[in-house]
Amino acid sequence: MLAAITPKTKAIVIANPNNPTGNFMPAADFVRIAETGLPFVVDEAYIEYAGLGMSQVGLLKRYENVMVTRTLSKAYGLAGLRFGYLLASKAVIDTIASTLIPWNVGTMPMWAALAAFEDTEALAERVTFNNDQVRYIGEELSEVEGLNVLPSQANYILMDASDAGKKGGDMVEFALKKGIILRPQSAMYGRDGWFRITIGSAEENKMVVDVIKEFCAS
Ligand SMILES: Cc1ncc(COP(=O)(O)O)c(C=O)c1O
Repeated sequence: MLAAITPKTKAIVIANPNNPTGNFMPAADFVRIAETGLPFVVDEAYIEYAGLGMSQVGLLKRYENVMVTRTLSKAYGLAGLRFGYLLASKAVIDTIASTLIPWNVGTMPMWAALAAFEDTEALAERVTFNNDQVRYIGEELSEVEGLNVLPSQANYILMDASDAGKKGGDMVEFALKKGIILRPQSAMYGRDGWFRITIGSAEENKMVVDVIKEFCAS
């Protein structure tokens, strides 16, 4: 990414953990990008699953060009609320705020978001459930020959069935016939076996494990 910077580069955005891979970038690499002085957005949409200890928010103290974005759409389970927030230096916040229309966020979503932030117990419950399910799916599917399950720190898991001789698109189609919607992923790194699942209820996760096993064995 550093090598891709040109005089035309306006901003750098990194999702951490990344989507669709679900992994974190090493902390030292954030410093390298922050040091460029370019506006640098760190998207922490899924940070709560691994915990705020993994946040890059500490960079804000040293680098005025760094911004951190978060959302209530993921671990808070409130995607329909359309509420997110930005952490940045006062100067950056003031500049962005001056471009926003008044009441760009509704009063009710604001109150609902505050209530969600205060309910730390419920957040911990959802995070524990999610992380247990990520572990369960990973363990179950690690037995499947030729299926590469990428370790995830988020609420989705990216998989590659190329070594099982399978295409990701065929997996998605197979699952759809069984009533399960998977996320297709285009070919990358010379492989076309990619697909992504999102964590659901325990029952749904068991179903998806069985369907993936069935597809890989077919
Ligand atoms: C990395 C990342 N950032 C942000 C978002 C968007 O969240 P919101 O619902 O707040 O628009 C998503 C949603 O898929 C995401 O994957």
